[in-house]
Amino acid sequence: MKPLKHRDEKSLTWMLLDEAATMAFGAHLLRSALGHGLVTLSGPLGAGKTTLVRGLLRATGYQGAVKSPTFTLVESYESKERSIYHFDLYRLADPDELEWLGFRDYLRPEALCLIEWPEKGAGFLPSPDLEITLTPCPEGRKLKLSAGTLKGDAMLGCLLTGDP
Ligand SMILES: Nc1ncnc2c1ncn2[C@@H]1O[C@H](COP(=O)(O)OP(=O)(O)OP(=O)(O)O)[C@@H](O)[C@H]1O
Ligand SMILES: [Mg+2]
Repeated sequence: MKPLKHRDEKSLTWMLLDEAATMAFGAHLLRSALGHGLVTLSGPLGAGKTTLVRGLLRATGYQGAVKSPTFTLVESYESKERSIYHFDLYRLADPDELEWLGFRDYLRPEALCLIEWPEKGAGFLPSPDLEITLTPCPEGRKLKLSAGTLKGDAMLGCLLTGDP
């Protein structure tokens, strides 16, 4: 994990130099989310959103494949210890489809929801605790974090002080 680039009151920016750094950030996020919350992942195709989720899931001990659930919209990773839901809304035609998908049932307080392409669910999705934006750049990926709730503020604090 490379050094923090910039911090203001509500956001943090990191530079991730390679795929391993993006995965490591996912593991760091798992620890900082304390297992629950709503986290959105924005950025263009191939920005590294799924890579970050893969790193997070590997840190739970999950060894199976982790792909963008582009066609199924959601992939569930449930165990005795935790419930993690990975959404990819890229192919969502209308935010109201989230209602039919039973999206609200996933938003339980003890669940961690990670949402790629949140803009496709605009108007239906509640405010995320944490917004992550990945931007490709010559050095790798720039990752920006913004808190949207008090819980998100606490997560930002953990991400800043905890070991990556
Ligand atoms: N920090 C990084 N520096 C350089 N390459 C990276 C970095 N992080 C991830 N990558 C690479 O970028 C690609 C990202 O693919 P990934 O599937 O994670 O993107 P995505 O944002 O989920 O795309 P999509 O919107 O299509 O689902 C992978 O090839 C991965 O190896
Ligand atoms: Mg993806």
